Amino acid sequence: MAFHGVSLGYDLGMPKTLAAGLNEDDLILKNLNFELPAGSFHFLTGPSGSGKTSLLKMIYLAQKPTTGVIELFGETIRPHDRAQTAGLRRRLGIIFQDFRLLEHLNVFDNAALPLFVHGAHFHEYHDDVTELLNWVGLKNRLDAMPNVLSGGEKQRLAIARAVVTRPTLILADEPTGNIDYAMGLRIMRLFIELNRLGATVLIATHDEGLVKASGMPVLELRQGQLFQRDVSEGVR
Ligand SMILES: Nc1ncnc2c1ncn2[C@@H]1O[C@H](COP(=O)(O)OP(=O)(O)OP(=O)(O)O)[C@@H](O)[C@H]1O
Ligand SMILES: [Mg+2]
Repeated sequence: MAFHGVSLGYDLGMPKTLAAGLNEDDLILKNLNFELPAGSFHFLTGPSGSGKTSLLKMIYLAQKPTTGVIELFGETIRPHDRAQTAGLRRRLGIIFQDFRLLEHLNVFDNAALPLFVHGAHFHEYHDDVTELLNWVGLKNRLDAMPNVLSGGEKQRLAIARAVVTRPTLILADEPTGNIDYAMGLRIMRLFIELNRLGATVLIATHDEGLVKASGMPVLELRQGQLFQRDVSEGVR
């Protein structure tokens, strides 16, 4: 995954086009150039409103950059190429800041949905999905519907659903925002394990405690620019 000269500005909810005239001050993200090597693990931090979710959205192809080019799995993203978008998205695991669970499916079916959609059969994924839900502490909630889950339970379900397909790139937007510290550490262990198994991981978070505890490198957004914070520098 790489950004080459990527800028983003919003205009009344619509991405600005170059033709509409680009004012440097209106840009949320300014000329970002960085690479996430395959198999790497990074946190993405920065104040509220600094553009973390916006940056992730561009990676998961829900937002077109105003300028610049994004590379994903060695392919240059062509924003209007639907076939390419669908193919690339299949290799992503996304944990949305607002969960996006399907309200009419129970916990098990929400977690299994990506596998079901890919054509897998119940007997093929039953054990994997159950084990994963066990890991995120939802073993006793398999039949529960999303509307009765606590915020933290919803978040853990969203995490399970995002990683159930063993994605090549995991993008998590505040994945521990609603859960206690101990569960947060457990979830981090899951991400670290998936990273060991080969996944590239990028986690947007405000949670400096978790960042510190896991000792992974940090990309920090400030005034539209991205700064690399080395592990050895510690946390300011
Ligand atoms: N669709 C949109 N239209 C207009 N402005 C937007 C849109 N989405 C985000 N913004 C603005 O872009 C800026 C960055 O928002 P973004 O959600 O990326 O920040 P964030 O770093 O994820 O914040 P938080 O930590 O609060 O989640 C904010 O000022 C926000 O209001
Ligand atoms: Mg956000």
